[in-house]
Amino acid sequence: MSNDRRDFLKKSALLGLVGLSSSLFGEEKLNHLESISNKMGGDAFTLPKLPYAYNAMEPFIDAKTMEIHHTKHHQGYVNKLNETPSTNMDYMSSDEVKCTHVDKYTSSVIRNNLGGHYNHSLFWTLLRANPEGYKNLAEGKIAKAIDEEFKSFDNFQKEFTEKATKIFGSGWCWLIKTKEGKLKIVTTANQDNPLMKLEGEQGKPILALDVWEHAYYLKYQNKRADYITGWWNLVNWPKVEELYSK
Ligand SMILES: [Fe+2]
Repeated sequence: MSNDRRDFLKKSALLGLVGLSSSLFGEEKLNHLESISNKMGGDAFTLPKLPYAYNAMEPFIDAKTMEIHHTKHHQGYVNKLNETPSTNMDYMSSDEVKCTHVDKYTSSVIRNNLGGHYNHSLFWTLLRANPEGYKNLAEGKIAKAIDEEFKSFDNFQKEFTEKATKIFGSGWCWLIKTKEGKLKIVTTANQDNPLMKLEGEQGKPILALDVWEHAYYLKYQNKRADYITGWWNLVNWPKVEELYSK
């Protein structure tokens, strides 16, 4: 059976299930229903495809690390989420909104794996190839906002690098946009993120750096600072700008 045919039958079955005609249901709603239906079948969460090859981030992040990071680590968070039905999870909402519902009372398996899935999904979109290592600076509105908040791009880069380097153990460093529209650099442990209602500053992540050893150990071993220096070459500033402007 072709994928289109299978997709059509699945959606038809869903419409039958809820007893409503497609004219009453937009495509988006239908996709949500399909997602819930899939949840019962165990694939409500899926690993996003990368928009580039595993070797695209060479020489700063090696192909093997990218492949294992994506197909083993990220896939692992996705699998665990699908194995763990949660009556408290709003499966209709986006992953970003789901994260905003996480607090200290949320089960650790949901907190860790939902965070792991959301954080990595964002992380991949914030990388872009730069094999020649051309100077990679912010541009446009985000460049202006960084200058205003941190006085200069160099200051911003220095502060971000310091905070990321000093995270004890596994975690993430973020540039966030707060409710008031201010830019702040924050860090979180494990797979927590600044959307979650936990200790520390909350806000919308617009730049994300994974400093778990699995993100760099094959190439850099214990030299996290060198990995961060390499990563600056890969920051997808147009994507940061898009997230900032939304
Ligand atoms: Fe990671």
